[in-house]
Amino acid sequence: MTRDRLPIAVLVSGTGTNLQALLDTVHGREAQVMAVVSSVAGVPALARARARDVPTAVFARADYPDRDARDRALADWLQERGARLVVLAGYMELLGETFLARFPGAVINVHPSLLPAFPGLGAIGQALAYGVKVFGVTIHFVDAGVDTGSVILQRAVELPNARTPEDVLAVLRPLEHELLACTVALFAAGRLRVDPDNPRRTIVDRL
Ligand code: GRF
Repeated sequence: MTRDRLPIAVLVSGTGTNLQALLDTVHGREAQVMAVVSSVAGVPALARARARDVPTAVFARADYPDRDARDRALADWLQERGARLVVLAGYMELLGETFLARFPGAVINVHPSLLPAFPGLGAIGQALAYGVKVFGVTIHFVDAGVDTGSVILQRAVELPNARTPEDVLAVLRPLEHELLACTVALFAAGRLRVDPDNPRRTIVDRL
C-alpha cells in the first residue's frame, strides 16, 4: 500500500463490470481497492475481486435484524480496512444515515440515466418507456434519498433509434466505466469540492 494511493471500497451486487473497470485502471495507481462487499453471495463481482487478491465479504440484508444493524456492521468492516471512499458499483441496496455518517462526503454511485430523470431501479427501461432520445450516465455523491445526491460527472448520448435495454446498455456501459474511474481519480486528487454558492453543486477542478 503506497502512501498516496486513496484506499477505496467497492460495493456490488452482481456482474461487476464497473468494479473490473476500476481494477483495470485506477487500482494500484491513484487508488487501492482495499475491500469489495457484495449484498448477494456468489455473484461474478466477488470472483473479479478475488482474482486480484482483494479481500471480499458478503453483507446480506437478511442476515441482520434491520438495515441499521447491517449498516453498522458494514461500516465497521470497511473502516477496519481503511477505506476512505466507498464506491457503489451496481450495489442494489439502500444505505441509511447510519452508514453515510461514517463516510461523510465520501460515498459515490454510478447510475445509468441523466439524473434527476429516471432514478431508482430499471432506469434504462424507464427512459425507453418514456420514449426519450437522449440517454446518459451520472456519477453522483450518495445521500439518504434514491439517486438524489449531488451530481459529479454526467455524459449524454443521443440514441434516437434505441428500442431495447440491451441497445442502450451496450452504449452506456463503457461510459459508466470511464466516468467512474475518472471520478475516483478526481476524488483521490482532491479535485472535487462543494460550490459555496450552491451546496447541491459539485465543482470539478480538472487537471
Ligand atoms: C450499472 O449499469 C450501474 O449503473 C447500475 O447497475 C449496473 C451495474 O453493472 N447501478 P456492473 O455490475 O458494474 O456490471
